[in-house]
Amino acid sequence: MCLATTLAIPKFKALPVLCPKTVLQTPSSNLTLRSYFRTGLYKPPSFPHVLGREASGTIVSTGSGNLHSLKIGDRVIYIGTGAYAEYTIATSLHTSVIPPGISQEVAAASLLQGVTALTLIRESHPVKKGDWVLVHAAAGGVGLWLCQLLKAVGAHAIGTASTPEKRELARSHGAEVLIDYTKDSVPEKVKEVTNGAGVIAVFDGVGKSTFDDSLESIARKGTLVSFGNASGAPDPLVLARLAAKNAKVQRPTLFNYIVTRQEYDGYVQELFKYIQDNNLDPRVHDTYPLAEVARAHQDLEGRKTTGKLILKP
Ligand SMILES: NC(=O)c1ccc[n+]([C@@H]2O[C@H](COP(=O)([O-])OP(=O)(O)OC[C@H]3O[C@@H](n4cnc5c(N)ncnc54)[C@H](OP(=O)(O)O)[C@@H]3O)[C@@H](O)[C@H]2O)c1
Repeated sequence: MCLATTLAIPKFKALPVLCPKTVLQTPSSNLTLRSYFRTGLYKPPSFPHVLGREASGTIVSTGSGNLHSLKIGDRVIYIGTGAYAEYTIATSLHTSVIPPGISQEVAAASLLQGVTALTLIRESHPVKKGDWVLVHAAAGGVGLWLCQLLKAVGAHAIGTASTPEKRELARSHGAEVLIDYTKDSVPEKVKEVTNGAGVIAVFDGVGKSTFDDSLESIARKGTLVSFGNASGAPDPLVLARLAAKNAKVQRPTLFNYIVTRQEYDGYVQELFKYIQDNNLDPRVHDTYPLAEVARAHQDLEGRKTTGKLILKP
């Protein structure tokens, strides 16, 4: 990995030394990039475009400017662009040292989805001990992190997932009640579990197919956090619908929570601490050779995966 302090287009001579990353992974952003780019929901910023939003590796070269104490030889993890590659330029602002005791693979499996989950329960809806919360796609990458973090803070997670295996996995990662949202009524089950009150927050990364159920499942003064579009973008919302419960709707993106170095590195180090203190499981679905990236994308798009997919160059 090469470390630079800006995202300016690199000049060839500015990159004299390159070394292989030990791990290169493709995460939730994978879903975004493959599915959202393919369907045209999101547009790549420019062409040619190298996919991949995060990776772990070793710094082999640095640029000038504020390096935030990073140096050649550090084992690091970063959020950026162009991660489907053997070498990547990363900004120092969004690069963090991996603490001793955490492998590069575990770090790669944790970053984007884990930090997303952490920002969701801290900022999108600050979850408190004892809260009842609904997590859609609870066995997905972000979903498993949400289940584990919610348990760690003493909240109660109700999870949804499409297969018995996925529901069992979510249960083993902290969800207390599981719903088959392909068959059963989510609002009815939520009401049953919460004595009619509903949940104080819904974390919904599925989007179009779950939005209405999510809105119906929240409690008075609750928050619907719509953070993804796995099934497509939700339909436009008629604001008056929120009046029925004085509900709030949030549409956050991780990148607006990690703009400053303090925000980014603070969340990354907090996530690593959660992993170490609570023995959290950064579940890896599978590790694919980079040459087989198409298979990884097919598995993701076919809803066959749980947790993280890692690519190795
Ligand atoms: N806002 C942000 O900053 C941010 C950051 C990271 C991720 N995200 C978003 O969060 C969501 C989850 O990300 P992830 O990394 O956890 O993805 P993931 O591991 O692929 O999980 C997505 C899950 O969504 C469910 N799903 C329901 N309908 C689907 C459909 N039509 N196609 C595919 N999957 C479907 C599947 O679970 P079941 O089979 O159980 O239904 C699938 O496992 C995505 O929408 C992603 O874009 C947002």
